[in-house]
Amino acid sequence: MSCIELIGLKKLYKDGTSAVDNFNLRIEDGELVVLVGPSGCGKSTVLRLIAGLEDLTDGDIRVNGRSIKAMDPKDREMAMVFQNYALYPHLTVEGNLAFPLQLKKMDPKRIKDRIGQVLDVLGLKEICHRKPRDLSGGQQQRVSVGRALSRKPAAFLLDEPLSNLDAILRAKMRVELAKLKQASGATMVYVTHDQIEAMTLADKLLVMNEGKIQQIGSPREIYSNPSNRFVAEFIGLPQINCLTCPIKQGRVDILGKSYQLTGMVMNGLDQVIIGIRPDQLLLKDGDHWQVQLIENYGDHQVVFLEDSSGQAVRVQVEAGQIVKMKQVFDLGIRDLRSVLLFDAQNEERLAGQLREV
Ligand SMILES: Nc1ncnc2c1ncn2[C@@H]1O[C@H](COP(=O)(O)OP(=O)(O)OP(=O)(O)O)[C@@H](O)[C@H]1O
Ligand SMILES: [Mg+2]
Repeated sequence: MSCIELIGLKKLYKDGTSAVDNFNLRIEDGELVVLVGPSGCGKSTVLRLIAGLEDLTDGDIRVNGRSIKAMDPKDREMAMVFQNYALYPHLTVEGNLAFPLQLKKMDPKRIKDRIGQVLDVLGLKEICHRKPRDLSGGQQQRVSVGRALSRKPAAFLLDEPLSNLDAILRAKMRVELAKLKQASGATMVYVTHDQIEAMTLADKLLVMNEGKIQQIGSPREIYSNPSNRFVAEFIGLPQINCLTCPIKQGRVDILGKSYQLTGMVMNGLDQVIIGIRPDQLLLKDGDHWQVQLIENYGDHQVVFLEDSSGQAVRVQVEAGQIVKMKQVFDLGIRDLRSVLLFDAQNEERLAGQLREV
């Protein structure tokens, strides 16, 4: 397998759109790197650059130390699953899986064995004689994944490979992909905007926005130690609460209490953004926050509240706690160490903490 280095990647499309800029990433041999970010942030472009389907505007791509920049896509040995399937319409499911192997002149008996396993894992056996037009979107997507899996490429490039599956099949395929990755030691770059996929599959998670890398780290690091407000808001469900507070003499008033800011350089800061995850907030007796909406997830609830100034927060509460619409509460913070602080101007993470006074 392969170690892939992306060095200073830049992609400007002909119409002037800057899709990827100053993109640096090292993907170790056997590592599964997940790229996440909002629609249009450049995820597919990064994959297409690695596969050779787009030309680089600047930068270099190395596989095991060798530049592949000038190589044809077919010589790069990357198995890509496209966001829009890209199946061969005139071939059956089986034919679609076999075609790349036939091109490589693999022995027909070996092709049959290998495809048999893949059809089994992906639950495609019953429909293996159908053509793509006679398949549902989810089935086409599984064929597309299967075609990549039946090869033994230098790396897998997967662009939202599960986006058209229903929730149950998605969860099942996620587990299958994780198993497959463990068993094969394959190097994979995986694009998704599904947070659960990103968190559960990634060895290394990369959050991007507007063509630029926001943070690279393990899912745990990114969740508990986001480097800016964008990352904190993008990763974590329900979404983190970000409250902007004025700083007065090194203190902030938040949720009806005054706290000292510690462990940080004030540097003339007069405002700070305070980030509190919904599971770190607590409903208490009081009348400052009114319930506007309750989402019931079965195993927990998310309660949306507003204060008289229209400021809104989300609080995660246990399934059994009785909360009613329009009910009023005060809010408390469970563990002050979990509170994240961001610069109100540039939204970068600040090192400090809140302390009770
Ligand atoms: N061929 C093209 N010409 C011009 N602009 C393009 C082209 N392809 C993509 N773009 C633009 O480049 C940016 C990045 O697109 P890309 O497809 O990489 O996003 P993405 O992160 O994969 O989004 P999504 O999650 O919606 O698939 C977008 O602004 C898109 O409109
Ligand atoms: Mg895309």
